Amino acid sequence: MKVQAVIFDLDGVLTDTAEGHYLSWQRVCDEEGIPFTRQMNEQLRGRRRADSLRLILGERQVDEATFNAILARKNAYYLEYLETLTPEALLPGIPQLLDALDAAGIPYAVGSASRNARRVLAQLGVLERFAFVGDGNTVARAKPAPDLFLAIAQALDVSPAASVVVEDAQAGVEAALRGGFGVVGVGP
Ligand code: G6P
Ligand code: MG
Repeated sequence: MKVQAVIFDLDGVLTDTAEGHYLSWQRVCDEEGIPFTRQMNEQLRGRRRADSLRLILGERQVDEATFNAILARKNAYYLEYLETLTPEALLPGIPQLLDALDAAGIPYAVGSASRNARRVLAQLGVLERFAFVGDGNTVARAKPAPDLFLAIAQALDVSPAASVVVEDAQAGVEAALRGGFGVVGVGP
């Protein structure tokens, strides 16, 4: 069967923004006196912002206002980091892969848990290339629920079985499999 569409995860697939998320979490955790390590950051791949903070806090209790203030500050730091992002930050081979998909007439989209997905794609200079951008605002249930990828397949009018998802996070691979997509896992 001919592949009808490709859905790319963003962070860790098109670009390596894990470092920016790490630096932003580290900064806010240092300010709050919350322990945080690179190893913990790896657990946050593919996780929404609030879910990430819940994982970081573990047993620690904070009131709702503090919780939201930490999220807002983390995102402000991450937005500062995004200012430094340029097309150079596309991972090796991505521009060539997008060119090859264009040449083959295969549409491609982004399916990311990030609410900053459009901004990241704009900084990378590729926002306009994608047929659809599904982000952290597109559906209510996050990966590993298949909802985001299914919503994108519907928007592109393609069947999941004839589409391929490219993911670096376990939750994302699971979401793709649950939705009946072909899936390519990248990274560790
Ligand atoms: C991606 C990243 C996660 C990040 C999430 C939310 O899935 O892999 O590390 O927490 O997006 O990103 P946001 O930009 O909305 O804070
Ligand atoms: Mg990812």
